[in-house]
Amino acid sequence: MRNTFLLNGKETAFKPGQMILEAARNGGVEIPTLCYLKGTAPSGACRICLVEVKDARSLVAACSTPVTAGMQVFTDSERVHRARKMNVELLLASGKHNCLVCEANGDCRLQDLVYFYKITKPRFAEEEDQYPTENENPFIVRDFSRCILCGRCVQACNEVMVNRAISHGYRGAESKIVTGGDTSYLNSECVFCGQCVEVCPVGALTEKKAKGMGRPWETKKIRTTCPYCGVGCQLWLHIKDGRIVKVTAVEDAQPNQGRLCVKGRFAYDFIYSEERLKHPLIRQENGEFRDASWDEALDLVAAKFKEIIGKNGPDAIAGVSCARSINEDSYQMQKLFRAVIGTNNIDHCART
Ligand code: FES
Repeated sequence: MRNTFLLNGKETAFKPGQMILEAARNGGVEIPTLCYLKGTAPSGACRICLVEVKDARSLVAACSTPVTAGMQVFTDSERVHRARKMNVELLLASGKHNCLVCEANGDCRLQDLVYFYKITKPRFAEEEDQYPTENENPFIVRDFSRCILCGRCVQACNEVMVNRAISHGYRGAESKIVTGGDTSYLNSECVFCGQCVEVCPVGALTEKKAKGMGRPWETKKIRTTCPYCGVGCQLWLHIKDGRIVKVTAVEDAQPNQGRLCVKGRFAYDFIYSEERLKHPLIRQENGEFRDASWDEALDLVAAKFKEIIGKNGPDAIAGVSCARSINEDSYQMQKLFRAVIGTNNIDHCART
């Protein structure tokens, strides 16, 4: 039997083992999701991806239901939309989803669904805040009142980054995403890679430094390579008025495939530091530095290099380039050492 199924009446190919969601997307049909996180085991937690399957007793979650040959799937029926809308309304009532003051305004999957279903006010009573916002670490704000318990952060932490710092905790209405011992991120195993923030579909986890810096529609994204270690992770710099608002990973790009570490994601403040050197310094005989012009500093370095190379050859010199300079400068530094000075003794200060 051919591997095809009927998707909204149209014969569509699928691969054995593929879930309805993936097969539908390959077939050009978009199904909304909240908890689905590509590359991880589907949890089926949010029930936003519900679809109708002919002869099935109930609607099924497209993200966690495998396609079978000949299956008839309907993604756009009245029954499907009624159920999805009800689930959106329940999620909307599950916390304080006030978009006006939310950092995720304009980049929120729940907001998108509320808009799509034209929900003007919550049908169900809003739940009271159970847990205070955690704001004590320098990188990540955890606003539990906005958490929809989709579990994407848990999957990103455990299955993507394999840090295993967070999990689902408590039961029923008291459910919460917790660290070991339900302490703050700061006192937990969290390494602040920020992958949980990257995958949060709402405003429950946000970058602290980005707060108030710019709405998503005010920023432009510029792709670059992380300057720190030698891996070459691909980043999006979110820029407003020439300043970095936040950094996210480029999804599906090699080598990091949407992952970042704490340095790549959060350690960009040095760009705006008042302590950056703005001109060369020359160390004097008394050990103190004095300001110098570029000509003077470069002449001195060139003279010293010549002296060392004359006595001991080019391998007597080594260079260490700076992770906090721009990538182009690091490239030129290695070119200078390899092609001009004639040594491979060149490295990068953050290559750990
Ligand atoms: Fe399928 Fe959440 S995306 S249940």
